[in-house]
Amino acid sequence: MFYPIAQKIMFACDAERSHNFALGSLKCLAHTPFNALWRQQLPAKPVTVAGITFDNPLGLAAGLDKNAECIDAFGQMGFGFIEVGTVTPRPQLGNDKPRIFRLPQSEAIINRMGFNNKGVDYLVENVKKASYKGVLGINIGKNKDTPNEQGKDDYVHCMRKVYAHASYITVNISSPNTPGLRDLQFGDALFDLLQSVKNEQLDLQAQYDKYVPVFVKIAPDMDSVAVQQVAETLLKSKMDGVIATNTTLDRSLVQGQRYADEAGGLSGLPVRDKSTEVLRQLRLAVGAKLPIIGVGGISDAQSAQEKLAAGANLLQVYTGFIYHGPALIKQIVTSL
Ligand SMILES: Cc1cc2nc3c(=O)[nH]c(=O)nc-3n(C[C@H](O)[C@H](O)[C@H](O)COP(=O)(O)O)c2cc1C
Repeated sequence: MFYPIAQKIMFACDAERSHNFALGSLKCLAHTPFNALWRQQLPAKPVTVAGITFDNPLGLAAGLDKNAECIDAFGQMGFGFIEVGTVTPRPQLGNDKPRIFRLPQSEAIINRMGFNNKGVDYLVENVKKASYKGVLGINIGKNKDTPNEQGKDDYVHCMRKVYAHASYITVNISSPNTPGLRDLQFGDALFDLLQSVKNEQLDLQAQYDKYVPVFVKIAPDMDSVAVQQVAETLLKSKMDGVIATNTTLDRSLVQGQRYADEAGGLSGLPVRDKSTEVLRQLRLAVGAKLPIIGVGGISDAQSAQEKLAAGANLLQVYTGFIYHGPALIKQIVTSL
């Protein structure tokens, strides 16, 4: 009841201001009686993936809580897991504003945030303060001014900082908003990066006596040959899972709409089929060897089922959650 009203007010305002206001409110109110506005008890639908047991298979996708400031509030909403970040070694401002645009006709968003975040140390402090006890993914990236050739140093730096605090770590190489980042998805650059990540993971495992799975998040803008190659490299580098997908650069489904030509990544309904197709091809390529988290355009129980049918083990939402609020979590989880 509360979300449709809150959403109407927020949608009347600038997208990034509303986003910051909503996060600020969730953070301030999470430990007060006002959390009754979003708190919900959902049926347990436990699932074990990559050695981790999730309360249910639906998670919050990366990018909404970049600095891990609202983990407790999102946990109260009933997500089976929460992914925070993308975080980079050093704080960075991201791109100039405006940089988020709503396309309500398509239940979509275009964003070119550019990894605005307060840096990995700040994120870790917030994670330590949270009382949330569920599964927490920490999504890591590289700073904009780090050249791709040294990109792996940024990922390794973040891994060292977050390892002790994460249930899993996501290596994000698929944001369209950090120039050149997506080049890391291909060929030798990918294998080289993932080898460094794997070596670091094994060192950290020995150091902490705990194995934290590493997932790799990929873009939807790939043909089937590229998907096959990425899949082979993920297997060869012994990654623990893959998240498919990030936002798309393709505007064919939103042509003519206001903001359709803004630069950035498009999410929500227009990315649904594209990301399900990549997921399906990935599943064919990896068989049962690799868990897949399906994300992109999930907006109801049917689109969630579609991802599972295409081979996903777990699901995440971002844009659907902005348009439908906590009721979407309940609808999907109870339908599973
Ligand atoms: C405003 C915005 C910011 C995002 N930031 C990140 C990010 O920092 N890291 C990341 O891996 N994905 C990020 N994403 C991508 C989402 O996690 C998700 O992969 C994508 O939006 C597709 O899912 P959806 O259609 O449910 O939104 C962002 C998406 C949006 C809309």
